[in-house]
Amino acid sequence: MGAVKIPATDDIGPSLRSTVLVAGSPLAAEVIRGHGLTVIEVSTVQEAMAALWADPIITAVISARSLPGGGGERLAAMATAALGRKIDVVVMPSAGSAHEDPSGTLASLLPRMSMTRQPPPSTELDSLFECLAVAAEHKDNETGQHNRRLGRYAGLLARTIGWSHQRCRIIELAASLHDIGKIGIPDSILFKPSPLTIEERAQMEHHTIAGHQILSAATSPVLACAANIARHHHERWSGGGYPFGLHGAAIPLEARIVSLCDVYDALRSERPYKAGLSHQDAARVLLEGDERTSPDHFDPHVLAAFRQIQKKFDDTFTLLTGE
Ligand SMILES: [Fe+2]
Ligand SMILES: [Fe+2]
Repeated sequence: MGAVKIPATDDIGPSLRSTVLVAGSPLAAEVIRGHGLTVIEVSTVQEAMAALWADPIITAVISARSLPGGGGERLAAMATAALGRKIDVVVMPSAGSAHEDPSGTLASLLPRMSMTRQPPPSTELDSLFECLAVAAEHKDNETGQHNRRLGRYAGLLARTIGWSHQRCRIIELAASLHDIGKIGIPDSILFKPSPLTIEERAQMEHHTIAGHQILSAATSPVLACAANIARHHHERWSGGGYPFGLHGAAIPLEARIVSLCDVYDALRSERPYKAGLSHQDAARVLLEGDERTSPDHFDPHVLAAFRQIQKKFDDTFTLLTGE
């Protein structure tokens, strides 16, 4: 059982690309920025070392040879030691001379740095989300992979309907906590092999409200999104879902997205009482319906997005199934 890690997606925004430390060379900094990379600019060896210690996602160092505090060669020697890992270090022949680089090292390095994709830096909030997700996994070990997949599916759909990279990242994190409210459901109900009584069903459905309460204990954009998802992911576009029987646009969009993802994954998953469906069969249920599920349970725009990128759902299920 491990912490929930949302896999890096193909669509990484500029802020998540390589960060390059540029020491004593404003022109090199300008050239590198021009390639869409993030630049931290410093002017002494001491400032450079402070930046290296403070920022673990620096992937390359470009330094002028003559740099106050010991020079570029000294910085190059210290940088690798400071980070404890190998990074690209280029010492320019003279300050401010990106175009005077005789070896062409900078020119050859830039394309490689531009392609380097870093995982998002783990913020404190990301870490807290991981802790909560692991807490949910302790309650029900089966949910671990389900939660990972849901985050990925939700990000795929959000991207397809045109959300920004930042909003997609938010829903990826938030979707993984959709069932956090189940930590309050007694095991005798959560794992009951036979049909639930009316009272037990009501208790089970309360996981939506409980999840919203848990995630509303503090405020942030990710928590607000997660709280909405927790409360409304069992609502249906056509009405008749729970906890409130909302319908249409009254249901928050993030919950409409996760609702479809949750049903798809439930259809694909094996349970003690049922086999998992193939992708083709699960997609057919969503798009055409069966005795339990109808296409009008889902936001038509979200369903259209699913139709468009359904192969990626299948790929995600295959990739993120099994430990
Ligand atoms: Fe749920
Ligand atoms: Fe779920």
